[in-house]
Amino acid sequence: MSRRLFVTTALPYANGSFHIGHIMEYIQADIWVRFQRMQGREVHFVCADDAHGAPIMLKAESEGISPKELVDRIAAERPAYLKGFHISFDHWHSTDSPENVELSQDVYRKLRAAGLIATRTIEQFYDPVKGMFLPDRYIKGECPKCGAKDQFGDSCEVCGAVYAPTELKQPYSTLTGATPVMRESEHFFFKLSDPRCVAFLREWALEGRLQPEVANKAREWLEGSTDTAGERSSGLADWDISRDAPYFGIPIPDAPGKYFYVWLDAPIGYLASLKAHCARRGLDFNAFIAPDADVEQVHFIGKDIIYFHTLFWPAMLKFAGYKVPDRVNVHGFITVSGEKMSKSRGTGISPLRYLELGMNPEWLRYYLAAKLNARVEDVDFNPDDFVARVNADLVGKLVNIASRCAGFLVKRFDGALAGLDHGAHEGFAKPWAGPEAVATLYEQREFGKALREIMQFADAVNQYVDSERPWDLAKDPARTADLHRCCSTALRAFRDLSLLLAPVMPEMAERVREFMNLPAADWAALATPLPEGHRINAYQHLMTRVDPKQLDALFEAPAAAASTASSSAAAPAKNSKAGAGSASAAAPGPAPASATDGETIDIQTFAQVDLRIAKIVSAEHVAGSDKLLKLSLDLGEGRLRTVFSGIRAHYAPEQLVGRLTVAVANLAPRKMKFGLSEGMVLAASFPDDGGGVFLLEPDSGAQPGMKVR
Ligand code: MSP
Ligand code: ZN
Repeated sequence: MSRRLFVTTALPYANGSFHIGHIMEYIQADIWVRFQRMQGREVHFVCADDAHGAPIMLKAESEGISPKELVDRIAAERPAYLKGFHISFDHWHSTDSPENVELSQDVYRKLRAAGLIATRTIEQFYDPVKGMFLPDRYIKGECPKCGAKDQFGDSCEVCGAVYAPTELKQPYSTLTGATPVMRESEHFFFKLSDPRCVAFLREWALEGRLQPEVANKAREWLEGSTDTAGERSSGLADWDISRDAPYFGIPIPDAPGKYFYVWLDAPIGYLASLKAHCARRGLDFNAFIAPDADVEQVHFIGKDIIYFHTLFWPAMLKFAGYKVPDRVNVHGFITVSGEKMSKSRGTGISPLRYLELGMNPEWLRYYLAAKLNARVEDVDFNPDDFVARVNADLVGKLVNIASRCAGFLVKRFDGALAGLDHGAHEGFAKPWAGPEAVATLYEQREFGKALREIMQFADAVNQYVDSERPWDLAKDPARTADLHRCCSTALRAFRDLSLLLAPVMPEMAERVREFMNLPAADWAALATPLPEGHRINAYQHLMTRVDPKQLDALFEAPAAAASTASSSAAAPAKNSKAGAGSASAAAPGPAPASATDGETIDIQTFAQVDLRIAKIVSAEHVAGSDKLLKLSLDLGEGRLRTVFSGIRAHYAPEQLVGRLTVAVANLAPRKMKFGLSEGMVLAASFPDDGGGVFLLEPDSGAQPGMKVR
């Protein structure tokens, strides 16, 4: 019987737009899913918004809207990204849905009936002003170890100490500033420490359904670990699954004022989405979730949420009497030019901006696929590497085959293929592993290896075309048959290449299908070469090269509106010279018609801009940029900041070293192609820079770090 698959990606929190990390996860899962569909397998690929929890509740409150309105607004954005990157979910749902309420309460009742729910009274910080218990992330205070101020409730960013929020000195609520008080409350726990759970999880986690490094983690958690002093920590602790009102979540049955912690109902959202999908398609949902269901349940997730997916989730399913996951496929994080992205700091690549710039989504799909493997490794997006890889492989190798041969076939042979040249055909099979091996690599999520094999095939085809020289054959009437044979052979191979790459580049495969007159992409077709006489249509242009300028634009556009600076300073107009060249430099943004544009701001608004005296400690050219200088600035903070400034045309680096200037200290850091820029320096100029650009300089006596006001 053919395989039946239920595939999910992690449900993204509904308090923000997709970032490039989400898109990477969807691309990875989508490639795998499309591969399975091409194998004729029945796939149900679903996801949903993860709508509940305190952060969403509080964010909605701060915007003066209901959580539901916030979630709806974010949900409305989703399709543009998913469609834009060709992510082929069968259904997208929400955890804030009737299906999820019903399923979550049902799972809870079954766990309770199985004797796996306990209640216990715990003490927790409570914000008396806000009237709510405080999640740890909303408590700050002084580090109990080194005394550093404004540290979070779990660890100190200054000395690295790890502690409980209750150990903070002078704790305060970040919501109201109030001093939190300890208060008791009854909480509900899922008894993961129950021997039944431990025995089940040991079996589930260690029987080969997890990647080796993930299974090791799970083993550590399950068995407990031995610390350096030889002290053994015990295995699993019971899991606190309740939160007190006010909370945006699902009510716990028979427990007024208590809600499920968001991480209980979030994974159940996988089932809720599947259930809604089944209802729409007239499928039997129970046939997917029964413990012995003949379905493979596969979750794609990132490395930060392994614990939830390898311990809580399978145990919940098992003891509620449902099918347990067959695989949890964990990927690493995407970094950008080697740096961790952070959406809160507005770094990373904006997926929407990528699409808005008209960049081909399949460039990104191909580039990420080429870097993905089955291990939990981070994947780096490097702009230069991206341009080189995409242009060399996709345009230089792949499209090149069709563009060099299709024209002749259509013009000279009415688009009809010559008979199969067995020698050439068999020759192509040698330098690479072949379709079956590539299928295995796709199945194992070794996408990078799969693409390397496919590209070796493409190399062989290009070498063949290079040596046959169809452009020369076309000039010699005596060699018409050779021309026909050569172009037919190359295009047969091109059809195979496009099928092999179809999971990664579905849109390209679709265009090839149209131009070559092919049936829907199907892996089995690879076994049969296109027959003699098969007719292709006129060649259509398949893909353009990446223009490195597009990468500049991708990085130089504000990744997120700077929260502090006024909007005209933070967001240079797309078409202004300043916007293109001097991202965090002296860019005034849209040119005002006169010295002021008539609008005024109040002094508080101005005071939001943290202007500081900065000393330029070093200045250097930036390889690959004719606009930027890389400055190291001392703002009196005990560390140096890097700022990229678009003043290269106006200053030589050595003119700047040692000088004082004025910097915006609280501008949101921006990830640029060349690295992170942590502020900007101020300079004077007319809108078109006519008459020059002049860096500001304070009167003598000013010191680095002084505030400018
Ligand atoms: N809502 C939870 C998941 C609940 S699943 C029942 C959550 N949401 S998230 O929006 O923070 O993350 C969604 C997915 O994106 C996770 O798998 C996470 O690992 C992944 N990524 C978040 N940042 C990432 C990168 N920088 N790179 C790749 N994936 C990353 O966690
Ligand atoms: Zn400390």
